[in-house]
Amino acid sequence: MTLAEKAGQLSIYSDPMRIGTRRQINPDAGPKIDNGLAQRIREGRLIGLFNGVGAAEGRALQRLAIEESRLKIPLLFGADVLHGFATVFPIPLGETASFDPGLAERTARAAAIEASANGIHWTFAPMIDIGRDQRWGRVAEGAGEDPYLGSLFAAARVRGFQGQRLSDADSLLACPKHFVGYGGAIGGMDYNSVEMSEQTLHEVYLPPFKAAFDAGALSTMSAFNDLNGVPMMAHRPLLTGLLREQWKFRGIVVSDYTADRELVMHGVARDDRDATRLAILAGVDISMQSDLYNLHLPSLVERGEVPMAVVDEAVRRVLRVKKLLGLFDNPYRSLDPVVEQRDTHTPAARSLARESARASIVLLKNEGQLLPLRKSSQKIALIGPFGADADNLAGPWSPFSDMKDAVSLEQGLRAVLRDPASLKVVKGCDPEQIIRGGLDEAVAAAKAADIVLLALGESQDMSGEAASRADILLPAVQQALAEAIVDVGKPVIVLLRNGRALALEGAVRDASAIVVTWFLGTETGNAIADVLFGDHSPSGRLPVSFPQSSGQQPFFYGHRNTGRPQTNPKDPYWKTRYRYVTHEALFPFGHGLTYSQFRYGEPEVGSGKLAWDGAITIRTKLTNIGTREAEETVQLYIHDRVASLTRPVRELKGIQKLKLAAGASRVVSFKLTRADLCFYDAAMNFIAEPGEFEVWVAPSATAGTPKVFVLEGSPLRP
Ligand code: BGC
Repeated sequence: MTLAEKAGQLSIYSDPMRIGTRRQINPDAGPKIDNGLAQRIREGRLIGLFNGVGAAEGRALQRLAIEESRLKIPLLFGADVLHGFATVFPIPLGETASFDPGLAERTARAAAIEASANGIHWTFAPMIDIGRDQRWGRVAEGAGEDPYLGSLFAAARVRGFQGQRLSDADSLLACPKHFVGYGGAIGGMDYNSVEMSEQTLHEVYLPPFKAAFDAGALSTMSAFNDLNGVPMMAHRPLLTGLLREQWKFRGIVVSDYTADRELVMHGVARDDRDATRLAILAGVDISMQSDLYNLHLPSLVERGEVPMAVVDEAVRRVLRVKKLLGLFDNPYRSLDPVVEQRDTHTPAARSLARESARASIVLLKNEGQLLPLRKSSQKIALIGPFGADADNLAGPWSPFSDMKDAVSLEQGLRAVLRDPASLKVVKGCDPEQIIRGGLDEAVAAAKAADIVLLALGESQDMSGEAASRADILLPAVQQALAEAIVDVGKPVIVLLRNGRALALEGAVRDASAIVVTWFLGTETGNAIADVLFGDHSPSGRLPVSFPQSSGQQPFFYGHRNTGRPQTNPKDPYWKTRYRYVTHEALFPFGHGLTYSQFRYGEPEVGSGKLAWDGAITIRTKLTNIGTREAEETVQLYIHDRVASLTRPVRELKGIQKLKLAAGASRVVSFKLTRADLCFYDAAMNFIAEPGEFEVWVAPSATAGTPKVFVLEGSPLRP
C-alpha cells in the first residue's frame, strides 16, 4: 500500500450524498467531497463513509471500491444507530429504566437487523458515558448515573448489535463511546473539560467500557473532552497504555467528529499537522471528518515524525476488522435492496418497540391509586404541548427514524378508550413558548373534565448533543400551565417527556400522580396507554436520581458521606446540604412504583461472615401484598463502613426482576464475593479491605435497612 492509501484507510467522512436524515446532526466541517467522492473511492482514500443510508446506493459505492480501486479494499459504512433505525425504541436512558439488560440486547439486535438491511456495517453505539450531572444533554443517550447498571447495559447492547458472528449480514460492529470521561464535563456543559480523580475514572467511568470490550466490542470512539488537562484525542496512557497494553483491546479507535483537529483549539497542538501527529501517536486509528490524516500522515511519516510502524499497525487493525465483518469475503454484505425492503419496519420490531417502551415507563407517584384509569365513564382532558405532538416522539439521536406511522400520546389513548370522544386534547402552550389563548382553553378543558392528563416536559432538541441546560426545570411556560390547571381542582396525572432527570416544582411536583415517559419512540402512545389503563403494570425504575432542586447538580446516589452528612432533614444546620434544600433525592435512583405493593422481609446474611476467598449469600423474602400481579425490581446495595479511602454511601451490586401474583411470595437471593467489594486505594491498587460492610436488599437506593457482614482477612493481604 502507498502511504496515501494507508492514510485513506484511516480516514472516514460523513456521506455527502446519502445523508439519511432531515436534521443536521453535526456541524458543517471537513472537505467538500460531494463531487470528488467517486474519485476518492477509486484512489482508495477513505475507509468508508458514515451516516449515509440505502442498500442500492451503498452497493453502487461499494462497486466502485471493489471494481475500480487499485487495492479493492471494501468500504465500511458507519452510522449513529443509538436506539433504533427506522423503527425507534426508547432513548437509551429510558430503556435503562427497564433495569432489564436482556431487553436492551433485544432492541439492539432489532436495530442491527434494520440498520444493516439499510446498508450499515458499523454503529457508533452504544453510548456508555456515565451521566451524573443532569444538565448534560447527552445523559439521554447513555445508561444513567450508575457504573454497575451502566456496565450491564453496555455489554448487553454490544451483544445485541454484534449478534452471533460479526460476519453475519445483520451484525453491526459496535462502538462503545466516548472513551472516556466525557460525561464528567464540568458543570454538565457539553464538550467541557473534565477533572476527576484516577479512582473515580477507574471505578465509575471506565467499567462500562471494560464490560463492553469483554462483550466483544471491536471499536471505540475517543472523546472530545480533555481529562485532567490531556485531551482524550491525545491521551496515549489511556488509549494505548490502558486500552491496548493492559486490556488487550484489538479493535479500532475512531476519533469523534473533527476531534483531532480540535487539539489545536484545546491548545496542545500547534497546527493541524501537529494535531495529526499527536492523535495517531496516542492511538487514534481513524480520523473522522477533518481529513487531517489524509492531509498530513504521509508527510509526517516521510519526515520521520511518525514511525511507519505506527501507521501500519493502525491500518492492520482496520483491515482486520473489515475482515472480521466478512467484507473481504462478501463486500456486498448488508447491501441488498430486497433485504432492505424485507427488514425495514417489520412487525417484530414494531411489537418490540411497544414492549420496550412500556418497560421504560416509570411511575414516580400514585396518590390515592389514581392510576390505572378506567377505559370508560369519565371525561379526560389531555393538556400540554406533548398531547397531540408527533414531532418529539423519537427523541435525540434518532437521525434515521421514520415516524410516519408512529403513535402519538393522543392516538394511543383514543385507541383504548371505549368512547374516543371522552378525550379532549388541548395544547395550552408550546414546549418553550406561549400560545395566545392557550392557557384559557386549557383551563376550560380541565373544568369540563373528570380527570386531567398533563403532558409536559422537554422537546427532543432540549437533550442530546450540544443540548446542555443551565437548569433542569420545566420551561416556565409549562410550569405556568401546570399551576393554572391544578388550580381548577381536578385530579391531575403528570406525564413527563424527558431526556434527563428533571427538577420538579410546584404543581407538577405536588400532582397526585407522576409518570416518567422519556422519549419512547415509535410506539409512544400505545405504550403509555398500556400503562395508564392498567393493561401493563408499570415496572420501570429511575436510572438517574431526581433531585429536589436544579442547583443540586451533579446529584447522584453513590456520593460519599462527608464528615457532616445530613442525617436528619429537620436538623439542617452545619450539614452537607444547600440552604432550604434537603439533601435527599425527591425520587431516588432505583425508585419506581407498580400497581401493586411489595413487602421486603429482613435480609439474611447467613453467618454474617465472608471468607477472603469465599462467597456470601444474601436472602430476602419478597411478598406481593397488593391486589394485582406486578413486577418488582429488587436491588442489592453495599457500603464499606471503614476503608482507607472514603467510599460511596451505597453501591449497587445486583438487580433482579421478579413477577409475582397478588399474595405470592418468593425468596430472592444474591451472592457477593470479595471481588464485589474492591475499590482503588490511594496507590491505585484494586483491593478489598477486610472489615464490616452494610448490605441492603431494597426497592431503591435510599430505601431499606442494612444488615452487616464482615469480610474476613488480614488488611495486609494482597
Ligand atoms: C458525536 C458522536 C457521533 C458523531 C458522528 C459527534 O458529534 O459526539 O457521538 O458519533 O458526531 O455523528
